[in-house]
Amino acid sequence: MTSIHALLGQDLLRVTEEAAIAAARTMGLGRRTYSDHVAVEAMRQTLDRLPMNGRIVIGEGERDEAPMLFVGEELGLRDSPDLPGVDIAVDPLEGTNLCATGDPGAVAILAAAERGGLLHAPDIYMDKIVVGPTAKGSVQLDAPVPENLRNIARAFQRDIDDLTIVVLDRERHERLIADIRKAGARIRLIGDGDLSAGIAAAVRGTGIHSVMGIGGAPEGVITAAAMRCLGGEIQARLTPLDEGQQKRVAEVGIDDVDRLYSTEELAPGQDIVLSSSAVTGDRLMEGVRFYGGGTRTSSLYMSLAEGTIRFVDTIRKEDDSTPVMF
Ligand code: FBP
Repeated sequence: MTSIHALLGQDLLRVTEEAAIAAARTMGLGRRTYSDHVAVEAMRQTLDRLPMNGRIVIGEGERDEAPMLFVGEELGLRDSPDLPGVDIAVDPLEGTNLCATGDPGAVAILAAAERGGLLHAPDIYMDKIVVGPTAKGSVQLDAPVPENLRNIARAFQRDIDDLTIVVLDRERHERLIADIRKAGARIRLIGDGDLSAGIAAAVRGTGIHSVMGIGGAPEGVITAAAMRCLGGEIQARLTPLDEGQQKRVAEVGIDDVDRLYSTEELAPGQDIVLSSSAVTGDRLMEGVRFYGGGTRTSSLYMSLAEGTIRFVDTIRKEDDSTPVMF
């Protein structure tokens, strides 16, 4: 069977590029909701034109709370049963605050897979540990922090104090941060964006060796899709922090809230594609650049079926006179 990559790869890349460009136009406006809105609109418009029977499994919320890209929304041309059935997890603007302030690390990102290839996780919190291929198999979400750090350090053949661990800067991580400091590893506290950080942890040379702590569950599923393509690992557990979140877990039919999810359980697909386009740049990708008559975007595009990771640098010429620079 033809892969999603072969059928739709270029198109899915364009979807995140368009969302990134739209969001980047609002960079620094201090209007996170508006930035998110333009990214959602751009992403939806582009997705809806694709030759597929698409369905949103991770999106902007449930039907009654999100007008676009809500969970369960059907997208794509859908004019023939022969079109591929594609499940899609979107985060049109991951790091809304980062875009609003112009800080690095905001991306437009999506994962796509065959039907059932991505877990329909509720929009609540999730405790996660993410490592790249080098340290895959050497961590346990429930192990004490020093033990995980020792094992990551061993995998990288270095000392614990040579490691950098990314943690979301949140009060709930006080204990985690203290444990990491006590064990001697370095920490990069981030304001937002544990999904991009997880991807960075799976790419050697970014200087990030693991991401630990509680962040969004939808971000966890998309991280898992990326880990399947990159050969990394995420272990995670849903962490409802209040009654409302507990209710959400029950609503989506998950009865074992203590279940530990592996990478393959979060993203079980065999035909996964992930596309991430930078809005504001970081170490891995440059943010959107605008110049008279054109835009330039940096993206990371992966296909599990094809076994490829592509760093894509796209110039969009808006008129013939746009110079192309190296
Ligand atoms: P948004 O893009 O929706 O603003 O989310 C960013 C983010 O930092 C995620 O990367 C992370 O998983 C989650 O929010 C953490 O949630 P919270 O800000 O509530 O701690």
